[in-house]
Amino acid sequence: MKYKSFGKTGIKVSQLILGTWYLPNRIVNGKRKVNKEASIKMIRKAYDLGINFFDTADVYRGVYDRDTFTTNFENVGLAERIVGEALKGYDRESFVVATKVMGRTGPLINDAGANRKHIRNAIAKSLERLQMDYVDFYIIHGPDEDAGIEHTAKTMNILEEEGLILHYGVSNHSVHDLVKFLNLRYFEPLEPPGFIQDKYNLIERKLEDTNIKVAEDNSLASMIYSPLAQGVLAGRYFQDSKNTDSRKEYEKWFEKNQLNESNKNSLEKFKEYANSKDTSMSQLALAWLINNGKYLFPIIGATRLEQLEENIESTEVSLSSEEIGELTEMFERK
Ligand SMILES: NC(=O)c1ccc[n+]([C@@H]2O[C@H](COP(=O)([O-])OP(=O)(O)OC[C@H]3O[C@@H](n4cnc5c(N)ncnc54)[C@H](OP(=O)(O)O)[C@@H]3O)[C@@H](O)[C@H]2O)c1
Repeated sequence: MKYKSFGKTGIKVSQLILGTWYLPNRIVNGKRKVNKEASIKMIRKAYDLGINFFDTADVYRGVYDRDTFTTNFENVGLAERIVGEALKGYDRESFVVATKVMGRTGPLINDAGANRKHIRNAIAKSLERLQMDYVDFYIIHGPDEDAGIEHTAKTMNILEEEGLILHYGVSNHSVHDLVKFLNLRYFEPLEPPGFIQDKYNLIERKLEDTNIKVAEDNSLASMIYSPLAQGVLAGRYFQDSKNTDSRKEYEKWFEKNQLNESNKNSLEKFKEYANSKDTSMSQLALAWLINNGKYLFPIIGATRLEQLEENIESTEVSLSSEEIGELTEMFERK
């Protein structure tokens, strides 16, 4: 595993982050796709293989069920509990944890948002579930139009001063909001976010010239989510691949967003390119991010140990800037 400075924070983190969105509680055909024991095994295996960075969220994974279009809170916080249980007993200095706040975690009017009341309540609950004294990276999971960013930033700064979090970051914000947050540095003593978390992969490059670029220009690290376009870039949906229990089976919006006719030709070429480099598709897609810029940290969302092991080897794949360019050109920019 390779380790790099997490942007300006200076904290050394593994080049890959383990995500927990789909780990513990997605139910497929009435069965838990990855149960608690398997999740703990996955987290510990990642740790043993050198991953020292784990991403979770207070809402994972119980709020909005896209299958039934209903809201249930049954599994809110389950991922945090499992991360806490898996890492309990490990030296706290040896890993970093990111978790998130903002999404709806309960039925009360203030059980959501980036306002001070909810953030206070949420961090206390997250720490309890994680069984930790502090969170390394605390993320505002999305924009909250009702909460002024000065209040949100100030609240995050207070949590930093109290030692409950080390740094805060923003996820799923518009570039306009991101710049507003960054401009807070001109209004001392408000400290702006120290990193971002956004979606970026060879197929979905909407944020390339906005959030990703702004983060890089400001020496902020970018935690990259869905680096494999939820499995599409790993070749999960080629006819010859084993395709049982895949995300596509239970996510109604999946095909429309990630897998469409225009991608199919590019994916064929991508597969050939991976063969010629003697890597797998997932390794090549992750290597495109890792070799692309020094501030990108893919969050891998493996649901099986074999996927985790395969993806970790992407850190051994080096790509020249020419090869990065060829891969970038291979996909239509969206
Ligand atoms: N901030 C946010 O709003 C936000 C949003 C989304 C995600 N995230 C974070 O980012 C993490 C990663 O997101 P993601 O799960 O969408 O990432 P992803 O890496 O794009 O997709 C992961 C899926 O790809 C498939 N896959 C992975 N490795 C594979 C391999 N070697 N071979 C074949 N298939 C493979 C698996 O699909 P199957 O399960 O179908 O096999 C797996 O579930 C999440 O866990 C979460 O921590 C954050």
